[in-house]
Amino acid sequence: MYYPAKITGSEKLSKTLYLKRIKILSDGIKEPLPFQFLLAWVPGVDLLPMSVADFSNGEVVIIVKERGEGSRALIRLHSDFLGVMGFYGAGFKPWGYKRILFVAGGSGIAPFFYLARKACEEGVSVDLVWGVRGGDELFNPRSLLNTVNKDTAIYVATEDCSTGYCGRASMLASRVIHENPGKWDLVIASGPQGLLREVCSLLSDTGIELYVNTETLVKCGVGACGSCVLKPHPLLLCKHGPVFKCRDIEGFLKGGGSA
Ligand code: FES
Repeated sequence: MYYPAKITGSEKLSKTLYLKRIKILSDGIKEPLPFQFLLAWVPGVDLLPMSVADFSNGEVVIIVKERGEGSRALIRLHSDFLGVMGFYGAGFKPWGYKRILFVAGGSGIAPFFYLARKACEEGVSVDLVWGVRGGDELFNPRSLLNTVNKDTAIYVATEDCSTGYCGRASMLASRVIHENPGKWDLVIASGPQGLLREVCSLLSDTGIELYVNTETLVKCGVGACGSCVLKPHPLLLCKHGPVFKCRDIEGFLKGGGSA
């Protein structure tokens, strides 16, 4: 579905991350499931797949990372009109679990906030491990967490060792899990392919269910063009994902990318 929309709020969160509030100018839009995503159409520039960081009363929140002309054009929009298409993907509702550890790299943190709010409504707790390359990419995740998420623990890792744990998010996740045996029964990793691969590998001996929120090229969003196939698996990110069990997409995760 295509919806006309308007930017109603903008905020620079850190050196590279920006928050945008987008009001859908159409009635009847269905609330997305956690991990469903949208395509933001910046007129005359690009169509950008974006995670839903929050959704309420027809207003969707996204977190944009500055990394190319399309994202820079989206960041430059203030009180402007744009197009929103979605919501796409099967989403993921992990409500049968007791406590989830969300392991994010960089802008992979975006879907955490919507997941955390919806999970809390279902009686499921969510904690966060968030890793970035440099401390200037950080913002305070608690500032975007809903007030219902009072018991959420947050662990931060920086690769430049400026704040928190010195190293990658995958290494910090492994450490906190081994220091707190039995605390979490589900891990969801979100971010660059290298991070997903490391989380699946480092935590494979924990007995915890391991899922990853994948990213790849998305064009149509509806399973028609084949651009989002997770080779060598016959799985489409936009139709079957974007969240998959580690063991179901091992070949894709081995295919490359950096942490
Ligand atoms: S983007 Fe998934 S099939 Fe086209």
